[in-house]
Amino acid sequence: MVEIVSSRNPCEFTTPVHCISDSTFLGDHHADQYSDDEIPTVDYSLLFSDDPQQQSLALEYLSQVCQEYGFFYLVNHGIPDKVFDNLFEGTYDFFDPSTMDERRVYTKKGPKDRIRWDRNTSSGENREYIKVIAHPQYHFPPNPPRFSEVLDGYYTEMRKIVIGLARAMSKTLELKEDFIEKAFNLKSGFDVSALNLYPPNHMSKGRVGVPDHTDPGFIVTLVQDVNGGLQILSHKGKWINAYIPHNAILIQIGDHLEILSNGKYKSHIHRVLVENNKVQRISVATLHGPSLDKYISPAPEFVDEDHPQAYRGMTYKDYLEANGGDQIDVQSSLDQIK
Ligand code: SIN
Ligand code: FE2
Repeated sequence: MVEIVSSRNPCEFTTPVHCISDSTFLGDHHADQYSDDEIPTVDYSLLFSDDPQQQSLALEYLSQVCQEYGFFYLVNHGIPDKVFDNLFEGTYDFFDPSTMDERRVYTKKGPKDRIRWDRNTSSGENREYIKVIAHPQYHFPPNPPRFSEVLDGYYTEMRKIVIGLARAMSKTLELKEDFIEKAFNLKSGFDVSALNLYPPNHMSKGRVGVPDHTDPGFIVTLVQDVNGGLQILSHKGKWINAYIPHNAILIQIGDHLEILSNGKYKSHIHRVLVENNKVQRISVATLHGPSLDKYISPAPEFVDEDHPQAYRGMTYKDYLEANGGDQIDVQSSLDQIK
């Protein structure tokens, strides 16, 4: 049995609201720590190129990006523009101020909530959001009509990309193509999606949209209508502004790929500031996780004398619950799946 040298304190890297106070947030990272670094861009189509040389160069690049950065823009992913147009249009309609009362019913009331809504949270988040479980089962409020179908279509397209990335990343780790899919049991993977509406600054009640945090899971996929406010803390300790190209997907490595790879690929702290936003912004951020009952610990392939086991293992469900379940009821979801 490998000796466990450390286990991550959940508060270090997830569920920011309870763990990071505003003063920490403002005090730790000064404006002079901003970086001009660009977020790397990965061409999805090249990862599956028929030209073996092109494919191997693309995989080599992905490997470097995952090790050095842990986040990247994904382009040429093949999701049609229409899917994004419908997603953003529907999200705006969903957040129409005149229907706010319909959404209020999803305010957290008890442990059985599967949909969670909130606005300008007491912990100082300047956003309105709804969180839903997107996989393995999916359901969404009925209004606006057909938006649920639009979202379902979006999640279906996105899962294909996520599985593709799991295969490509497995190869970059010099393992079998299905290594990550199996390690996380992605077929039954637990995906939570947040639809966010950030106000323009004249309507905001502070500078923070979402405080510093990392996300659990394999990867996070994020799409947005306009740029503004999302920042990622780089491996060099500098905040990088995300300028996501039109209809590109921002991919961020989640905590569980970090755990599985024993720290070879790392998740990174990010946040949203709304202080300079002239217009409102919407984003859809989806956490693609292992199945809830999957026990995740560093894979033996990444543990040796030079790389002792650096993370404690636990089921994804236990991990989420230890971190507040991302405000979605995990146990009732598990009951439903079984
Ligand atoms: C998040 O990471 O929680 C949201 C990021 C964003 O909306 O840009
Ligand atoms: Fe996040």
